[in-house]
Amino acid sequence: MKKLIIFNWKMNPSAFKEAKRLFNSILYTKKAELIVAPPFVYLNALKVKTNKSKIELAAQDVFWENQGAYTGEVSPLMLRNLGVKYVIIGHSERRKYLGETDEMINKKVLAALKAGLKVVLCVGENLKTRQRGQKVVENFVRNQLAKDFKGTKNLIVAYEPIWAIGTGRACPPEDAREMIKFIKRILTTKYKLRQPKVIYGGSVDSKNIKDFVKYKEIDGALVGGASLKPKEVKKIIQLL
Ligand code: PGA
Repeated sequence: MKKLIIFNWKMNPSAFKEAKRLFNSILYTKKAELIVAPPFVYLNALKVKTNKSKIELAAQDVFWENQGAYTGEVSPLMLRNLGVKYVIIGHSERRKYLGETDEMINKKVLAALKAGLKVVLCVGENLKTRQRGQKVVENFVRNQLAKDFKGTKNLIVAYEPIWAIGTGRACPPEDAREMIKFIKRILTTKYKLRQPKVIYGGSVDSKNIKDFVKYKEIDGALVGGASLKPKEVKKIIQLL
């Protein structure tokens, strides 16, 4: 199965000119499915480019209603009509800075799936939880999945331990593999998913990408910081 690589630009770059340059540095490869998650304001213009490049787009978030009086929000239907294929939901930065709860995330997941978007649901523990040991981490993630996943049948999960995001301290690949195996076990036994995809995120760059994607259980990576550096992006793609 092709690995899934999502370049999450977060709230970057600050001008479209730069976004275009960044986007152009992503060279198509047959070996993986490449997805770019730019800020909302660049989606429309980049969509025109993706038509030629075979690179898919993801939104970094979405609201749970399709239209109406919800100032500042973007709906699943809008994304779908624009030709955006994926949406990231429940990123830890949104949980932290915007107070997104599991209940909100579940509503977003359900609405996005209903609109025909492919959902990438982010889960993962913070450092305090990690320090309490593997069993506590597993319980935490199991709980998060139960709440965020409620009522759904099909989505991609990104295991993103919060302590590894943007810190330059990636999760040891062997540990990420164990957690991903655990998540897959839950998805197949409890939620009856047939071939769930679970990717890893947290300080992935050209130096460690291979250590993650070499495992058959790890279906790809969510790349944040490194996705803003064209040279890194090129190297990462070459290493797939
Ligand atoms: P990072 O971000 O690669 O900068 O750690 C990953 C993410 O937040 O998805």
